[in-house]
Amino acid sequence: MYMIDTNRFMNIVLGLTLAAGAFVFLVTLVLAMFGGKKTSRVMSYLYMLSGIFGVFAVVVVVMGFRGKKSDGRPWHIFLDMKYQPKYTSQGQSRFFADGRSNRLPVQNTIPFDGTDYIADAGYHDGPNPAFLKADARYFFGVANPDMKDKDGVPARPQWKDGKLAGDGFFVNHIPAEAITHAGGWKPLITRGQQQFNVHCAVCHGASGRGGGGELAYGIVGEKGLSVAPSNMVTPEIQAQADGQLFNTITNGVRNMPAYAHQVKTQDRWAIVAYLRVLQYAAGNTK
Ligand code: HEC
Repeated sequence: MYMIDTNRFMNIVLGLTLAAGAFVFLVTLVLAMFGGKKTSRVMSYLYMLSGIFGVFAVVVVVMGFRGKKSDGRPWHIFLDMKYQPKYTSQGQSRFFADGRSNRLPVQNTIPFDGTDYIADAGYHDGPNPAFLKADARYFFGVANPDMKDKDGVPARPQWKDGKLAGDGFFVNHIPAEAITHAGGWKPLITRGQQQFNVHCAVCHGASGRGGGGELAYGIVGEKGLSVAPSNMVTPEIQAQADGQLFNTITNGVRNMPAYAHQVKTQDRWAIVAYLRVLQYAAGNTK
């Protein structure tokens, strides 16, 4: 293989083409001035060729200036979002009096996702422990993060003499914080009912009985979801810890999607409270 300098090669090709063009132009000129009949076929071809080479030469001259060094801003015929009205990192704002471009959300902003809005915005007085989600019981429903077996299966609640004796992996009971936050049990359950009917009833039915096909209580089940939404008032689900139900809503379970981005932390606890009401109403009072 020969190493060919492509730049030089193209320059030579271009030079030869331009030289050929110049020759044709010269011949045309000489014949036009001294030749015989000006309307002959040969002449018209020569005119056409000169024209084509002329246009080519003009293109070469114009494009030839590309690649010239310049301090000026390049021409952007297609802007392709090259210039955007945005702040770059560490950039200064000329709009805000303090010049900061990096700004906290406006007080009481409610973010789209399901995180706690009081934690995310609104009170900037000092570090907010809720912002760090330091309280695993409230934010994750987890009591003992280490209580998993070797397959990573969370430990179940501990029972003794038919009574709950201690938390397993998940908290057994809705954290007191959730109840205080709601202003008591009644508002918590009322809110839970409202949120359940918005987010859960579509699949599990207003009674929480779920099911599929002909036996479906929820709309989606009736339309034939490939996996039937669970019946949530069975003794098995009733035996789950509050924290596990909270976790199911937060992260989803098997074929059920997660709802953390739609239902806020506090409202997920409210739904758990209402689930217990549904189970009680179904006669599962274990
Ligand atoms: C899109 C339909 C859909 C919605 C909405 C939905 N679920 Fe489910 N849910 C399912 C399906 C399907 C299952 C069964 C999943 C499986 O077995 O693979 C399920 C299972 C469950 C279970 C049983 C978990 C277990 O450990 O077996 C609980 C509890 C539950 N859902 C609670 C809820 C709550 C509370 C809500 C409202 C926040 C909700 N679901 C919203 C479809 C849904």
